[in-house]
Amino acid sequence: MISGKTRVLGIIGHPVEHTSSPAMHNAAIAALGLEYVYTAFPVRPEELGPAIAGMRALNFRGLNVTVPHKVGVMALLDEISPEARAIGAVNTIDHREGRLIGHNTDAYGVMQSLRLDGGLETLPSRVALLGAGGAARAILYALLQRPEVEHIALLNRTAEKAAALAASLDPEGKRVQPGVLDASSGEQVAAAGLLINSTSIGMHPHPDASPLPNPACLHTGMVVLDIVYNPLETLLLRQARQAGARPVDGLGMLARQGARAFAIWTGVEPPVEVMRAAALERLGKPSPLKPAAN
Ligand code: ATR
Repeated sequence: MISGKTRVLGIIGHPVEHTSSPAMHNAAIAALGLEYVYTAFPVRPEELGPAIAGMRALNFRGLNVTVPHKVGVMALLDEISPEARAIGAVNTIDHREGRLIGHNTDAYGVMQSLRLDGGLETLPSRVALLGAGGAARAILYALLQRPEVEHIALLNRTAEKAAALAASLDPEGKRVQPGVLDASSGEQVAAAGLLINSTSIGMHPHPDASPLPNPACLHTGMVVLDIVYNPLETLLLRQARQAGARPVDGLGMLARQGARAFAIWTGVEPPVEVMRAAALERLGKPSPLKPAAN
């Protein structure tokens, strides 16, 4: 029930209609019986300033931030967490005692997913990361926090973007080796114990595309995380399964970055499986937490 005490949470983006976040967060709110509501706000780029001022004035408890505002919003906040500062993007705003604090929960989300969905308590010493966009930046930051990761092959269609990202997060060039993602990438992928796809290749409406020109580089003992979650099983994950590698879909990272934001706002650890099931249902799949026959 929404009452006079209900606190407002939400997400700002443009477009934002297709987001799974309201389904995930409202499912967690309902499961815990908390007095919050989470809704999506389409905010055009030129309205970002007024939107953040409105968040303050209306005393919203918190907001998630998505494309195209993750970088632009930083200048409008009172404080940025060291992690969000290093990643260079904010995806969560915590409105606390009149101050707006920016966080980035994507790095946490990917590490939790690798640990709990991928079974990796420690990461392999060699990792291959495909892509050099905003998602790659958070993932590369997270990988570099882990001392056991000695070498990261950062492969992107536009090699210059991989080089720029590598130089920004690993300025001494000790651990990240940038390169081009093409038919010659197989050797670097084969040498890795963990492969992460952060590109949008394989995403709806192009489910027949794989970021790897030749899947022969996938092997047994490798964990393959695809951050694409629509479709849930991408061609890359099917190729991984066929090669004997362990596939990890992108819904785990989505649910876990959301869970971290939820905990920042409410002080309560949410049931991640409830959030994951809600996102899955939003994608048009039956929820595994509900009986099939009703
Ligand atoms: P996100 O925030 O999801 O990371 P992004 O910043 O737009 O989105 O980055 C998209 C990534 O997917 C980039 O690495 C992009 O490669 P380029 O830097 O060369 O553009 C990659 N990508 C998207 N479509 C691609 C395609 N058809 N082939 C190869 N790479 C693609």
